[in-house]
Amino acid sequence: MRLDIVTIFPEYLEPLNVSLVGKARARGLLDVRVHDLRQWTHDRHNTVDDTPYGGGPGMVMKPEPWGEALDAVIASGRSGAGDGAAAGDSGAGGPVVVVPTPSGSPFTQATAVELAAEPWLVFTPARYEGIDRRVIDEYGERLRVRELSIGDYVLAGGEAPVLVMVEAVARLLPGVLGNAESHRDDSFAPGAMADLLEGPVYTKPPVWRGRGIPEVLLSGHHGRIARWRRDQAFIRTARHRPDLIERCDPAALDAADREL
Ligand code: ADE
Repeated sequence: MRLDIVTIFPEYLEPLNVSLVGKARARGLLDVRVHDLRQWTHDRHNTVDDTPYGGGPGMVMKPEPWGEALDAVIASGRSGAGDGAAAGDSGAGGPVVVVPTPSGSPFTQATAVELAAEPWLVFTPARYEGIDRRVIDEYGERLRVRELSIGDYVLAGGEAPVLVMVEAVARLLPGVLGNAESHRDDSFAPGAMADLLEGPVYTKPPVWRGRGIPEVLLSGHHGRIARWRRDQAFIRTARHRPDLIERCDPAALDAADREL
């Protein structure tokens, strides 16, 4: 998968060199390219923002640098310029353009699954009050544009949301996680734990500071362990996210129970 990220703070994306995403890059599973938006400015001060039409506080990101940046990035992916098979392959349908914004639709695990099926994503993290609307409208006519929020709070910019989204997507790519089963029981993953949060987990030693572990986990009885895990998931979900229980389809829950 190819990822292009256009930002005025390229250094903010340096965590993409470490841990899971860094390893996926090193192994050639992810082709991540971070671009400095200011390289597409032409004035002495490399201006990327201006005052909002209609007045009001804050600044708005100017459309011209974004237009030039996106044209260049999209053209480089389409022609396969640069290197690597991922760039050439990703050109066919054009990228999905991901615009992080607190006014977007919620980024959920389902969104991560959808994005993980794409060969090419272009992220446009904004600062200030956001990007001139015409940029989103312009590319929305030619490409699939997703305006996404990572939660109901306002951050100083879209870079942290990009880190969040890239990690959620990258760990779903084939070969990225060591154990292919490791995201089967994730909170929000489909399957027996559908729509439930993950319950508690334990490892050695069997007693720590006088605290043991639930007997059932030592029983070796897979059916009872699965049942216990599902009960724990229910208890935790009821406590932390009662809204998820309300949204559960009882028939789906019954079906999942029969799987155990
Ligand atoms: N930019 C600022 N806040 C954000 C949020 N909550 N989600 C996505 N992008 C943002």
